[in-house]
Amino acid sequence: MDHLISPSVLSCDFANIQRDVEMINTSTADWFHVDVMDGIFVPNISFGFPVIEAIKKHATKPLDVHLMISNPDKYILEFKKVGADILTVHYEACIHLHRTIQLIKESGMKAGVAINPHTPVSLLEDIIEDLDLVLIMSVNPGYGGQKFIKNTISKVLQVKKMILEKNTKTLIEVDGGVNLETAIELLNAGTDVLVAGSFVFNSENPQETISKLKAIK
Ligand code: DX5
Ligand code: ZN
Repeated sequence: MDHLISPSVLSCDFANIQRDVEMINTSTADWFHVDVMDGIFVPNISFGFPVIEAIKKHATKPLDVHLMISNPDKYILEFKKVGADILTVHYEACIHLHRTIQLIKESGMKAGVAINPHTPVSLLEDIIEDLDLVLIMSVNPGYGGQKFIKNTISKVLQVKKMILEKNTKTLIEVDGGVNLETAIELLNAGTDVLVAGSFVFNSENPQETISKLKAIK
């Protein structure tokens, strides 16, 4: 499978959200990465349902929604309603992770689990077969534009090994500090989906930047 690109709309211009959504629609990107932050699980607040609904209205590609919130179970149906296609919760935010994953799937979405930089990938061993996606954080969640944590490469290699051993179809997504250099290393290690926020939106030509990330062999 060719790798996928999921530009993070956290770095878009919210006063021109329709324009930026159209830019992604007509680019070679595959998904929209939508970061939801609650100011409790992470030290920042981003946006909620009305903004996701507005994105969904114009988006022609799947919404890859990354929940950086405590107690995500409470809102799963609401995220489905506003248009999430893939819903990712944090390992660190879920006491009954298996139940949360089943709820996401029963609601008709693909299910992902994100892990923070300090969380060992071995903790996914007993859940990975239930997951459509593992999201490995390569920065501490909360903000765009942070520096890539190098240890992520070894985590990707470990998750890839786990996936091959268990023979599951789980995708590996990496989020934070992705640029052309880190992307090459991540893809070589077995990453399937690259999230990129500031690298895309702070570049002079975001569509061209997306194409460059997509074209890496
Ligand atoms: C960080 C978010 C990321 C963020 C990535 O907490 O989960 O998706 O937008 O931004 P960059 O690509 O700028 O590191
Ligand atoms: Zn994210």
